[in-house]
Amino acid sequence: MACKRSLDNPLKKRVFGRKLGRPLNKSRADVINSLLPALSLSADLLKEDGSLAPSSLFPQHKECWMEIGFGSGEHLSALMRRHPENAYLGAEPFINGMAAFLKDIKDDPHERIRVLMDDAMMLGNSLSDDSLDGIYILNPDPWHKKRHHKRRIVNRDNLECFARILKPGGQLIMSTDVPYLADWMITEATIHGGFEWAAKSREDWSTPPKDWIPTVYETKGAKGADKMVYLFFEKKA
Ligand SMILES: C[S@@+](CC[C@H](N)C(=O)[O-])C[C@H]1O[C@@H](n2cnc3c(N)ncnc32)[C@H](O)[C@@H]1O
Repeated sequence: MACKRSLDNPLKKRVFGRKLGRPLNKSRADVINSLLPALSLSADLLKEDGSLAPSSLFPQHKECWMEIGFGSGEHLSALMRRHPENAYLGAEPFINGMAAFLKDIKDDPHERIRVLMDDAMMLGNSLSDDSLDGIYILNPDPWHKKRHHKRRIVNRDNLECFARILKPGGQLIMSTDVPYLADWMITEATIHGGFEWAAKSREDWSTPPKDWIPTVYETKGAKGADKMVYLFFEKKA
């Protein structure tokens, strides 16, 4: 069953935080005008009723992965180049981030990437059951104030959706440099009950795997790399 939170209350604000930043320069404006319409998931596919099968978008590709809040998209483009056999879905509401990503991939093949410049849950709620091989949520907004905790992308409703759309054994990969957000994500994913945490020792969550692709936020923004936490959960079979 799909999560239909937004349909129940269509006026509810879907994305918190900024969607606009500095004005786009010409090359970024060009990709927003030319490439975004071609790669965007159309509104008729985003019914939030669990009917969108990734295989209908990417019939030729092996696995399908989604990245939520990809920022400038350097992680997503690196994944795409590393795994040309797979297809990718990316959601990022911030226009400057979307423009940076599209500019980066403009000369790459486009048949295995589709994007949404809006709330990732519009896409998550639209995807069919057991349809994704993995979901990345890297450095999500921490929403420090207690009254804003419900805005965190890793929350109970959304975890329910991730558990529904991941294939059994599919991966939910999260990272953060905010210690109490790490605690929150571990607690919420564990309480949910549908996921198994792969970590067996401190090293498993405090050091990235050898093939980890760092994001700009992680390399420049994070105050101390020593605080980064890497969380690998698997959907239980
Ligand atoms: C702290 S940034 C991290 C960006 C990137 N993942 C990185 O590690 O560099 C959080 C990102 O999540 C995006 N975001 C916030 N709410 C979102 C939502 N509901 N759906 C998709 N992305 C969202 C923001 O626009 C922002 O780019």
